[in-house]
Amino acid sequence: MPYPYVLLSAAVSLDGYLDDTGKDRLLLSSPADFDRVDEVRASVDAILIGAGTIRADNPRLLVNSPDRRAARRAEGRPEYPLKVTVTASGDLDPDANFWHTGDKKLVYTTDGGAARARTAVRDTADVVPLGPELDWHRLLADLHARGVRRLMVEGGGTIHTQLLQRGLADELQLVLAPLFVGDPKAPRLFGPGTYEPGRLTLVDTRQIEDVVLMTYRPAVTPADHHWLSLACDLAALCPPSETAFSVGAVVVAADGTEIARGHSREGDDTVVHAEEAALAKLDPADPRLAGATVYSSLEPCARRASRPAPCARLILDAGVRRVVTAWIEPDTFVQDADGNGLLRDAGVEVLLLDEYEGRAKAPNGHLL
Ligand SMILES: NC(=O)c1ccc[n+]([C@@H]2O[C@H](COP(=O)([O-])OP(=O)(O)OC[C@H]3O[C@@H](n4cnc5c(N)ncnc54)[C@H](OP(=O)(O)O)[C@@H]3O)[C@@H](O)[C@H]2O)c1
Repeated sequence: MPYPYVLLSAAVSLDGYLDDTGKDRLLLSSPADFDRVDEVRASVDAILIGAGTIRADNPRLLVNSPDRRAARRAEGRPEYPLKVTVTASGDLDPDANFWHTGDKKLVYTTDGGAARARTAVRDTADVVPLGPELDWHRLLADLHARGVRRLMVEGGGTIHTQLLQRGLADELQLVLAPLFVGDPKAPRLFGPGTYEPGRLTLVDTRQIEDVVLMTYRPAVTPADHHWLSLACDLAALCPPSETAFSVGAVVVAADGTEIARGHSREGDDTVVHAEEAALAKLDPADPRLAGATVYSSLEPCARRASRPAPCARLILDAGVRRVVTAWIEPDTFVQDADGNGLLRDAGVEVLLLDEYEGRAKAPNGHLL
């Protein structure tokens, strides 16, 4: 089931708080950073916040720049992104700014919260119950079915914590503000619980006036699962061979869009490899290649007889810096092929998701 690209956005104090306990919202970002947030809002299809943030901050959650709204209209998009909230209780203030500004609004809730939520929001928003408990997978699938491809999540902490702990976040944009809150009753960005193991990848840092924006990507994102699964599906399309593996590959740009796909022995080329077929569809000067990820059901080859350049070399020459694969190449045709090692030695980030190994092997059973 495809999900939107999920971008978590938050600003925190140096001691990790999202707000203080005062009546008014604590301003953590700087003016230029608020403008950057406006730019990110203008780029997405939907913005989600928890009902707690509506109650605490009464935000409008708009794209404030007229130029950015005009640009959205010119692209045939609604002037404002869809506004989304989640509530279990249905305890929503009918007079909150959220309902009376911007474009369409959507409330995801539980079966138990639906009646109260509908009474509160009346005809200002659609209310969607998602079962006895709110299921984030169903929520994201439903948003995707409504055409949402990029979702910005603007808090609060309970929402960010759940999405990160469930491995459903693709990106975290975190702004560190140079002040302390120091009140243990204030809301924190991330709560206790079990997070995906390992370190996040620091993708970018930027100073904006006196705050610092850090962009992180979890080691494995929901998109990685989606695209590697698709690569395994493509492997099943390959014309069978007794002398080569059946492999599928997809090239995906940094913004989460597919830019090419291929599979072994595609078209009239009886020896072409999946990664080679996919990369051949792209202009070598395509600027998206530098930020792209290659998903391949099998580790890219390090040596091959049928063509001068193995796929690991083609990936390096294309300038791709990230590869996700399902299955280490067995010694069937080449002894000790180590395409992943070759890529890693050249500084490429290589991720092996071996839970897909069975699916990657399936069309190759006769060779193993
Ligand atoms: N600095 C920043 O970047 C930033 C950004 C946003 C918010 N904030 C601050 O964060 C604070 C609010 O954060 P918060 O953690 O208290 O609230 P929150 O995350 O905005 O909302 C929590 C509420 O969302 C609903 N909810 C969450 N998970 C749910 C689930 N699985 N199923 C159904 N409903 C669910 C519940 O609503 P019900 O109670 O209605 O059931 C819950 O009480 C405020 O102080 C705000 O100023 C700061």
